[in-house]
Amino acid sequence: MVNIAILGYGTVGSGVFEIINTNQEIVNFKAGKELKIKYVLDLRDFPGTPVENLLVRDMDTIVNDPEVEVVVEAMGGVEPAYTYVKSALLAGKSVCTSNKELVAKHGAELIKIAKDHNRNFLFEASVGGGIPIIRPLNQHITADRICEITGILNGTTNYILTKMDKEGLDFDTVLKEAQALGYAEKDPTADVEGFDACRKIAILASLANGKSVDFEDIYTEGISKISDTDFKYAEKMGRSIKLLGKCKLEDDGIVVSVSPRLLAPSHPLFHVSDVVNGVLIRGNVVGDLVFIGSGAGKLPTASAVVSDVVDAVRHLNVPTTIQWEAEKLEVLDFSKSKKQFFVRVAGQNKEQIENAFGEVTYVDAGIQDELGFITRSMSENSYEDAASKVEGVITRIRIEA
Ligand code: NDP
Ligand code: HSE
Repeated sequence: MVNIAILGYGTVGSGVFEIINTNQEIVNFKAGKELKIKYVLDLRDFPGTPVENLLVRDMDTIVNDPEVEVVVEAMGGVEPAYTYVKSALLAGKSVCTSNKELVAKHGAELIKIAKDHNRNFLFEASVGGGIPIIRPLNQHITADRICEITGILNGTTNYILTKMDKEGLDFDTVLKEAQALGYAEKDPTADVEGFDACRKIAILASLANGKSVDFEDIYTEGISKISDTDFKYAEKMGRSIKLLGKCKLEDDGIVVSVSPRLLAPSHPLFHVSDVVNGVLIRGNVVGDLVFIGSGAGKLPTASAVVSDVVDAVRHLNVPTTIQWEAEKLEVLDFSKSKKQFFVRVAGQNKEQIENAFGEVTYVDAGIQDELGFITRSMSENSYEDAASKVEGVITRIRIEA
């Protein structure tokens, strides 16, 4: 038998408890051992629930109990999660977490501590919710140079964009729905402003390159400025608007970014809607691989955490190899990367637009008193320079090639 402790009995933690109990037979079979949840650590009481008698308040109870071999961290945030996870690893327990903030900030260090103690630090649920993406990237796509990772990495924002687009609902109403469904972060600004997707692309970029990509170096723009008018133009162009995390290998290094993009129907992620996430991995020999599935929510996320628990139990004294060193990987300056832009400008001054941007393609979505157009491929810097010469720029959205 293997004893497990769960830190945090919220959306994900309660899902882990539920799956280990309801799917007991299959999970135990896959793990090769019987799993028993010995403790649940939380700040609240849960009277009348199955965890009532398992609740503890003090992490020391878990750290000092040699019977606990696997710890699930599902509290969120960097502290005290970091301190608790580190102390569990140092005490010889494997840790499985869904906490991307923790992994993006301390992943390399925690992997090393686990390895030094012949234990595992696993984080499948930290990116893409229920989609297996960390393990494939780490264990299966090992013969390739990863040329590109492009992902819809945040379920909340994809849910919001889909509902705004298809049902014409307003931003705030849909955000409340996403919160009620357990998709959003405690502070949903992390979802809406792209910080959550930024941490996730930092994790994927670090795993793909074996060195640490600092999430603070990543250009990050969220979806708070996307409006219903933008969707009207997108429809006219036959495109969808998605928040994409991107890590692309260029001649001199990698460019990493998070921003809303206009996708053509031919793009593999064009149809990825609602809370679903999708990740395109382009390897130099395997070609394109696409992973699609539930990106947030109690059971899909907990499924990924429990798969880590099974892996940890299968490898109780054997660290699985994760190539992610603490050494920093410098990313290229995003402002030099090139792409086309869709731009909306108040008024009807085509001459001013063309003087600034050169040849453009206008998009007529029947919106009064403004012009929408697509630029040629240009760098971010050149775009800023041209846009500064035009009065009344309302917004711009990057076009995904
Ligand atoms: P919740 O807020 O639903 O659950 C967190 C739980 O941990 C709460 O019960 C909270 O108690 C408890 N907790 C917080 N701090 C402490 C502490 N210091 N000591 C003991 N208990 C504590 O969050 P989620 O389950 O949604 O998310 C957990 C983690 O998983 C986060 O890192 C999140 O980003 C990640 N994640 C979430 C997904 C989702 O769909 N929800 C998907 C993928 C990853 P209290 O409520 O009293 O604060
Ligand atoms: N808030 C996150 C999202 C949870 O919406 O994608 C999953 O990481």
